[in-house]
Amino acid sequence: MSQPTQPNPNPTAESAPSAPVLGADLSVNLAGLALKNPMMTASGTCGYAFEYAEFVNLSQLGAFVTKSITREVRKGNEAHRIVETRAGMLNAIGLANVGLDAFLEEKLPQLRQMRTTGPRIVVNVAGHGLDDYTFAAGRIAGEKDVDAIELNVSCPNVTDGLVFGTDPAALKDLVANVRKVMRTDCKLIVKLSPNVGDITLTARAAVDGGADVLSMINTYTAMAIDIHTRRPRLANGPGGLSGPAIRPLAVCLVHRVYRAVARDANVPIIAMGGIQYWQDAVEFLLAGATGLAVGTALFVDPATPVNIMAGLSQYLAQQGCCSINDIVGKLELPGDLATSPY
Ligand SMILES: Cc1cc2nc3c(=O)[nH]c(=O)nc-3n(C[C@H](O)[C@H](O)[C@H](O)COP(=O)(O)O)c2cc1C
Repeated sequence: MSQPTQPNPNPTAESAPSAPVLGADLSVNLAGLALKNPMMTASGTCGYAFEYAEFVNLSQLGAFVTKSITREVRKGNEAHRIVETRAGMLNAIGLANVGLDAFLEEKLPQLRQMRTTGPRIVVNVAGHGLDDYTFAAGRIAGEKDVDAIELNVSCPNVTDGLVFGTDPAALKDLVANVRKVMRTDCKLIVKLSPNVGDITLTARAAVDGGADVLSMINTYTAMAIDIHTRRPRLANGPGGLSGPAIRPLAVCLVHRVYRAVARDANVPIIAMGGIQYWQDAVEFLLAGATGLAVGTALFVDPATPVNIMAGLSQYLAQQGCCSINDIVGKLELPGDLATSPY
């Protein structure tokens, strides 16, 4: 078997400048929600914001996405909850979080303070059943300054985490019920799971249920084994794979959903899955994404979302584009591929 290729230690040095080029407009619009740039954090990878503020100037982000909030406090799974794999990260955190009440009392005021500097607030919500989701989403969306709710229907690391994310009929029903309890100007983002046969079916269900925006993808169900103990390396057994290993898979799924559902429905996509360099960001934009979230790469360099913007600006300028919107979905497919489904 061939050896894995070593990553270029500094691909951003290829052609990216150290500072954004003036002129390229990085602002994006997510179903009416204006963001000063497309860069955001991926849920669960940097807490409730202020843990992350120590390392990065949050005002530079387009939006901050919180870790999943559940109605009840959750302590999560036993350790080990994270292990590194050759080209990514495997986690089974188990939705550990402070719970709805503490989030509203302690964390949201900090997020509000951050919002005054520019970034939008997106609160990720998870639950066990319909009542959990509607209760938590209704209360959070009722709070002033919460710009969007992201529904996590795709967590592979809790026993019933994927129930809604893999069943289109149940998903449509959930989304419709959550939409009803939300403030109308609060956007509803539905986060899709890659752990399905045909992701366009769940994407369609989310849109039909009333999703304003789709985000994709959550982690792939995966496992790593300690060959000495013959046990799974994660206490949970399986976990969710993220990082560079899943990026080409995510690019393909984003493009499939863009072509089959999102483009015609005029529903923007927030892409995530191994984004680490500005080139990765451009791939996702060409595939059809409008927003870009960074997760695993934050563990390598917390400034990743900010660093990506410099390369993105230069790329747009080199391509003669004034705005990010000029390249969204502009992947050119040769010959029959342009018209045939794949
Ligand atoms: C440690 C860790 C914790 C995560 N926790 C959550 C979570 O609480 N809610 C959620 O919707 N996604 C969660 N995710 C998934 C990420 O938000 C993202 O969808 C996924 O990791 C792919 O992006 P990435 O490759 O850039 O990490 C988590 C991912 C990681 C690595």
